[in-house]
Amino acid sequence: MPLDIVIGAQWGDEGKGRVVDLFSQESDLVARYNGGDNAGHTVQVGQQTYKLHVIPSGIIHPETVGVLGSGMVLNPQTLVEEMTLLRAAGIEINPERLWISDAVQLITPAHRLLDQAQDAALGKGQIGTTGRGIGPAYVDKAARRGLRAGEILEPEYFAGRVRTHFEEVNRLLTGWYHYENLDVDAQVTAYLGFAEEIRPYIRRIGPLVQIALRAGKTVLAEGAQGTLLDVEQGSYPFVTSSHTTSSGVFSGLGLGVQPVRRVIGVTKAFQTRVGAGPMPTELDGEAAKVLRGTGANPWDEFGTTTGRPRRVGWLDLMLLKYAHEVNGFSELFLTKLDVLSGLEEIPVCVAYTRDGQTLHALDFSGDARLLSRCTPVYETLPGWSEELRACRRWEDLPSAAQDYVRFIEEHTGLPVTSISVGPERSALITRSSQ
Ligand code: IMP
Repeated sequence: MPLDIVIGAQWGDEGKGRVVDLFSQESDLVARYNGGDNAGHTVQVGQQTYKLHVIPSGIIHPETVGVLGSGMVLNPQTLVEEMTLLRAAGIEINPERLWISDAVQLITPAHRLLDQAQDAALGKGQIGTTGRGIGPAYVDKAARRGLRAGEILEPEYFAGRVRTHFEEVNRLLTGWYHYENLDVDAQVTAYLGFAEEIRPYIRRIGPLVQIALRAGKTVLAEGAQGTLLDVEQGSYPFVTSSHTTSSGVFSGLGLGVQPVRRVIGVTKAFQTRVGAGPMPTELDGEAAKVLRGTGANPWDEFGTTTGRPRRVGWLDLMLLKYAHEVNGFSELFLTKLDVLSGLEEIPVCVAYTRDGQTLHALDFSGDARLLSRCTPVYETLPGWSEELRACRRWEDLPSAAQDYVRFIEEHTGLPVTSISVGPERSALITRSSQ
């Protein structure tokens, strides 16, 4: 009864979509357990590119069931739009192969407005949220007044709750943030329409996933965002509002830890970040352009959800070691190694200095203030000039690229079991421990 977990080891956007795509070929269920439509996976299959924000990207495999777990926050409108897109692309979506937990918290357009108003009000201290209403929906969950998907199954009761929600948020938006009055009637009607469309998909997920596991089926838990955006373990307060780390899987799907087989940490060969907050190895200038790309390709470093250019920097092994500590990875999946081709030298952060002291392990309790005072200490590795996009075996890689991978393994103590060298599904090197 294996449960495999795919986790972003950095600040999100590590290329988890393609990892999930690969593993979901062998998985019966693919489950999201955290976050909402702040996430964005780009998956390239043949000539087609899919951008998914809510539905697990594994759904593009015809035999796979997609699960939206209770740890998520779900915007019914985004879900309905995504279902329509996928159907137009010839992918079958029906309640047999898409399950929504009855305990999922719902996001409304009022949450989105509140998210945008609250972040803007922070002025210089802005988090730079995706504006998708994630924070306010999780606030409502913790305050025990959130709307849960299961309530949709009782239409009259749900309609009353939705109206109360819109009226309350409207009072806050107009009274505190000086927004224009919402047309509550129109909002409620539109929202109930989307809710009605997702009603056939709502289930109690925990027992179904347990039954699947007991029957020997393979479940893949697909993390959204990355370790350093975890609401507790990340660079607080510049984080998202959910548990992005492996511990979120168990509460977010209603499972125990027994079935875990692999915890796959996904890391780029360099560092990226969207939104505000400290990033010790951040770069500017020519090297940044190499790492970011021009934006001409879907895999360049521009946000899937917001289109914002991502901040880029050299690989930070201090943060990667920390990510291993809080997730318990069994292995690493290294993405975008090909992007480093052509650089004469590649600095890698192996330690920090802070307040006159050198740190080799991160005494980091999720505090952005401490992280912002850290200066990276680099070790510089030789680069390679060869293109890697055609490499398919470990032996095909230039020796400097092999050394780069080995360097990561030595510092983290983890095997790098897969390396991606291009956006196509096939641009992958799979290796057992060398
Ligand atoms: P929120 O999740 O929209 O509240 O945004 C909080 C922080 O998380 C911001 O810095 C966002 O840029 C970041 N964030 C949220 N989702 C993602 C993601 O999928 N990839 C990268 N960053 C994200």
